[in-house]
Amino acid sequence: MPAYRAGRAVVSADGRSYKLSSNESPYGPLPSVVEAIARATSEIHRYPDPGAAGLTAALADRHGVSAEHIALGAGSVTVAQQLFETVGEPGAEVVYAWRSFEAYPVLADLAGATSVTVPLLEERHHLEAMAEAITPRTRMVFVCNPNNPTGTAVHGAELEAFLDRVPEDVLVVLDEAYREYVRDGDVTDGLAVYRGRPNVAVLRTFSKAYGLAGLRVGYLIADGPVAEAVRKATVPFAVNHLAQAAAIASLAAEKELLERVETVVKERERVREALIAQGWTVPVTEANFVWLRLGERTADFAGACAAEGVAVRPFAGEGARVSIGTPEANDTFLAAAGAFRGL
Ligand SMILES: Cc1ncc(COP(=O)(O)O)c(C=O)c1O
Repeated sequence: MPAYRAGRAVVSADGRSYKLSSNESPYGPLPSVVEAIARATSEIHRYPDPGAAGLTAALADRHGVSAEHIALGAGSVTVAQQLFETVGEPGAEVVYAWRSFEAYPVLADLAGATSVTVPLLEERHHLEAMAEAITPRTRMVFVCNPNNPTGTAVHGAELEAFLDRVPEDVLVVLDEAYREYVRDGDVTDGLAVYRGRPNVAVLRTFSKAYGLAGLRVGYLIADGPVAEAVRKATVPFAVNHLAQAAAIASLAAEKELLERVETVVKERERVREALIAQGWTVPVTEANFVWLRLGERTADFAGACAAEGVAVRPFAGEGARVSIGTPEANDTFLAAAGAFRGL
């Protein structure tokens, strides 16, 4: 079984450390969110609300969906695990692109499902090949949009054409962990797609744009029977009390948080353009990271960045994913990337 490898931190010889390896928000929590967490600490001798009624109601309100269409988990990766557990049984196939989010093969193995991976085409999901990979044994398809680690996003028209080809008893999960960073108007919001299709589920998280990676809250929005099945597959009390309080406060502070996202998006464009000016090929990214296909040079590149205190996420023999951080972190990374090219 593959083990999940999390992004690491590094420190340069002169003590600098920029963690661009886990696609986290570079900003600390907002004061209003810290206050909500502090208030909630007085109640942590009690179990959390197992149904997370307050957070579910806030999300239902935020997205204009019924509370029955929502399932929560300790991070969207846990919700993904609940999905895999729901469909997983010997012989059940789950189709996803590769390379994509590193947790998928782990979750498939844990659930006893068979992974059917479809290679990316020019760093993008090859939806036609994915449709062709569906067999009578296929129970679920994951579409990571935007894709981790390449940052590329599927367009609405190609997604609709793909969904038209998927049998209605196969669940399609749109993993939208990075949705808030999408600026390409041709990339459809999964929530608009799910409304017309009972076999489409959308995964979202508070870990990235909302800056709550350390508290672990994510959710699924899908038709009633799918959301109900995913709720049943949970471990009781998975979403802790502080996480519920912080997520509710983050929804209330959404405007401020999304302004930060806008800053990250501007930095993303600056970083990508600077890399291209250095001579790198960088796919258009709709997420909070960039992808460099380095092949055999990947480990050397990650080492060169680490020497400058910049932790990137290397995938040996393939490439490196680099999260967008503060301007200072990004400048340090750009200097390391330029030096690697001898600039
Ligand atoms: C595509 C994708 N989905 C899901 C997750 C899981 O995020 P979390 O469990 O923190 O919500 C990640 C995290 O990196 C991701 O990249």
